[in-house]
Amino acid sequence: MPTLSLVRGRLLAPHPTEARLTLHPDALVHIDAGGRITAVEAAPPGCTVPETWPGTVLVPGFVDAHLHFPQTRVLGSASGPLLPWLQTSVFPEESRFGDRSYAEAVAAEFCAAMVRQGTTLAGIYSSSHPDATDALFAELDRTGLRGLTGLTWMNRNAPDALLRGTAETVAATEALVEKWHGRDDRLRVCVTPRFAISCDAEMMRAAADIAERHGLWVQTHLSENHDELAFTASLFPEARDYLGVYEALGLVHERTILAHCIHLSDDEWARLASRRAVVAHCPDSNFFLGSGCMPLARALAAGVPVALGTDVGAGRTFSLRRVSASAYDASLVVGAPVPPEVLLWQATRGGALALGAGDRMGCFAPGYDADVVAIDAPADADAGRLVDALLFNHDAGPARATVIRGQVRWGAAPPPLPR
Ligand code: GUN
Ligand code: ZN
Repeated sequence: MPTLSLVRGRLLAPHPTEARLTLHPDALVHIDAGGRITAVEAAPPGCTVPETWPGTVLVPGFVDAHLHFPQTRVLGSASGPLLPWLQTSVFPEESRFGDRSYAEAVAAEFCAAMVRQGTTLAGIYSSSHPDATDALFAELDRTGLRGLTGLTWMNRNAPDALLRGTAETVAATEALVEKWHGRDDRLRVCVTPRFAISCDAEMMRAAADIAERHGLWVQTHLSENHDELAFTASLFPEARDYLGVYEALGLVHERTILAHCIHLSDDEWARLASRRAVVAHCPDSNFFLGSGCMPLARALAAGVPVALGTDVGAGRTFSLRRVSASAYDASLVVGAPVPPEVLLWQATRGGALALGAGDRMGCFAPGYDADVVAIDAPADADAGRLVDALLFNHDAGPARATVIRGQVRWGAAPPPLPR
């Protein structure tokens, strides 16, 4: 697949460290043969390079900090709040991933759905099956996506088809590390204990150990639903609180992604901030399962690293733009509005920083990977109007084009460059 050497268009460029964006009305982005940006400049007067995707605005790749590959085909199943929804809609579907050919077919759908929406990095839960997870890695590799993923660790409170012992799960994770971790500088194995209800203390301690041994990231769920909180407290009566369950087992550090974090106490927020753990905010899922609203403004003010997650299949979309809109709605519900510009920054640059890809993704500047998403947008709009159009026009389709490391992975081929 050829690598683009030059893109011309309207850029909405995230600031490297502050949650704001700058509009460059007509820019040239120069890309080297390895798919890295070498220069960004204003198109000079009389520039003969055609606009690459006319009628679009260009943003960096989106980052989806939390979603479930084996829930692709049950996305949007309305079967109640979290615990009954898992039993009714999720566990039977995830059980099908013991069949590698089924997993391969869904992996292709799953990665295509992300790329269509402009996602270029994701924190992904696989099923608990090693082979299905291998199939997912292979498809991520084929499509050029960046991903953190691993088989989901579960040894209790689910159908037998999903359960696996600790030793076997550790061995399967080691094999995935050996085969995939660090591949092409895009793929990382992430240790994935599903949540405290699914894993006993021994399993979670083993998860913390393997993460420590290899320097791996960890992902799990925290404080999503009131019945989940009560069940967890009954399983770990000695724990200080829900976060304390994971802390005591060594699972909470600056390489940990915690999805949801809706019902945390002041003390839990303070500990999260001091441990520099990452919150994956999944507002669309939170609305769909009636879980509640995460206090985003508060998390940001406390300096907690935050990224946005679709949480497919409790989330009903692969679009980080839709999720950003849900995050805006949720921020209004809790009475602390977060500006759309901040949300678009969190969905791109903020997510890249939070997930440890800040040196490679999220900026239009020399040295960064040329991940470029072209999205249909109104002409003659200022930056604020463009951000609103990107986030809140729910009738808009997918990206016009998605470029990952200089290669067009979805959408319209660019016009030829002048000789
Ligand atoms: N908690 C444990 N597993 C899951 C899951 O698959 N989805 C969501 N939303 N929450 C969870
Ligand atoms: Zn989830």
